[in-house]
Amino acid sequence: MADTRRRIWSMAGLLAAATLSSGLLTTTASATEPDMPEAKKPPIVGGQPAKIAEHPWVVYLTDTQGNQFCGGTVAKANKIVTAAHCVTGEQPAAVQVVAGRENKQSTAGEVAKVTGIWVHPRFQNANSGADVAVLTLDQALPHQPLAVAAKQDAPLYQPGKMSTVLGWGATAEGGQASQTLQKADVPLFSDQDCQKAYPQYKADAMVCAGLPQGGMDSCQGDSGGPLVVENKLVGIVSTGNGCARPNAPGIYTRVSTYHDDVQAQLGS
Ligand code: ARG
Repeated sequence: MADTRRRIWSMAGLLAAATLSSGLLTTTASATEPDMPEAKKPPIVGGQPAKIAEHPWVVYLTDTQGNQFCGGTVAKANKIVTAAHCVTGEQPAAVQVVAGRENKQSTAGEVAKVTGIWVHPRFQNANSGADVAVLTLDQALPHQPLAVAAKQDAPLYQPGKMSTVLGWGATAEGGQASQTLQKADVPLFSDQDCQKAYPQYKADAMVCAGLPQGGMDSCQGDSGGPLVVENKLVGIVSTGNGCARPNAPGIYTRVSTYHDDVQAQLGS
């Protein structure tokens, strides 16, 4: 997994990739004002603690030691939607899913074993699209699943629409993963604006979200986690240039494009 992530970072043009540690949800303003004294820095922009009770379908993935490395979404009691780059090449036994646990240090919720990993057959890397995977669990989780956006949900992808991203990843670029679940409300970009920020952008496979001025974003460790609009899974945290930088929104898997493939994995 570490190799995969390092590859993805370099493809996203991250020169400092080697120094970045695995982490999650970023709400930093330091990218825009690096020299601001600590005390004068604006507070975390947009990001805030989130409650499992309000987002029961958000989960995180760990290795067998319990180290969190990605996020995910309950799409059916025993099925998790996540990013392909989180689990490609992994054995099911190497991955666990933690549900119902806001704080990584608590023992709340469930720890499920993974019995199957489906990676989208067209996935190669996060910059070429199809960054979606479905995990099968050894148990049915008691958490309400989140509906997966379908073709007819195109209105949910309107530029400017507010979306919510959730995760336990880094709270600053290059920073440590969060101990607790965080969320940020970020507007969706138009395809045109995202294309300007990322030449590799593919409108059918991806959707961008963030602030043009930066300051609010997902980050390392948030990968695989949900981007939600009107109670539907519209995106999966995939990649981006750094975190929360100006003119560098987060890139998310456009879930509606893959709805039928995902639904086939969920069964009826
Ligand atoms: N690839 C990262 C991960 O594996 C997620 C990066 C998201 N970046 C962003 N700027 N939104 O955790």
